[in-house]
Amino acid sequence: MNITGNSFVPFDFVHVEEVIRLDREYFYRPWNTGQWVDLDWNIHFLALWGTPDKLKGFGLFSIVPGDEAAHLLKLLVRPELQGSGEAKQFFDQTCGVLKDKGIGRIFLEVEKSNTRAIKFYEKAGFKLLRLIKNFYSDGGDALTMDVVL
Ligand SMILES: CC(C)(COP(=O)(O)OP(=O)(O)OC[C@H]1O[C@@H](n2cnc3c(N)ncnc32)[C@H](O)[C@@H]1OP(=O)(O)O)[C@@H](O)C(=O)NCCC(=O)NCCS
Repeated sequence: MNITGNSFVPFDFVHVEEVIRLDREYFYRPWNTGQWVDLDWNIHFLALWGTPDKLKGFGLFSIVPGDEAAHLLKLLVRPELQGSGEAKQFFDQTCGVLKDKGIGRIFLEVEKSNTRAIKFYEKAGFKLLRLIKNFYSDGGDALTMDVVL
């Protein structure tokens, strides 16, 4: 697949459908439709990467008004772009946008077995906080991590 363009895409609800498709196709634990439908867009921020016609990746954060910390719920780049450095580029730009929104810290949970993502987050400056046993519904363990922006 040839995807040109390498930049932030302004959020538009038309992109949510494609985000859901990417989530279903490439996430180990995709959300069901209800989880997406129930999202309150007043407290969630969806960062989009690629071009308006073709998304290359997305990041989903929840941000509680008044809190300086954002919760990273999902981060994904298409498999053919993994290892290219674009995820880092995307994430760095996303952090810049979050900083402009007054966010000073990002925290997340990541599956303990997701070595690739953990390495990525470590390279992005995240520090390990703790292990949560049986965090996922099928008994999978999670690591919690955070980074100060
Ligand atoms: C998480 C994600 C955005 C990271 O982007 P990426 O382009 O893969 O990141 P990088 O290429 O920088 O890889 C991160 C590190 O993992 C290493 N790595 C690559 N493949 C690996 C594998 N199969 N197992 C373990 N480590 C691996 C890379 O070598 C790199 O480390 P290095 O720079 O020291 O060599 C991307 O992998 C992704 O979209 N994954 C699917 C969705 C997901 O799991 N998201 C995270 C949970 S929210």
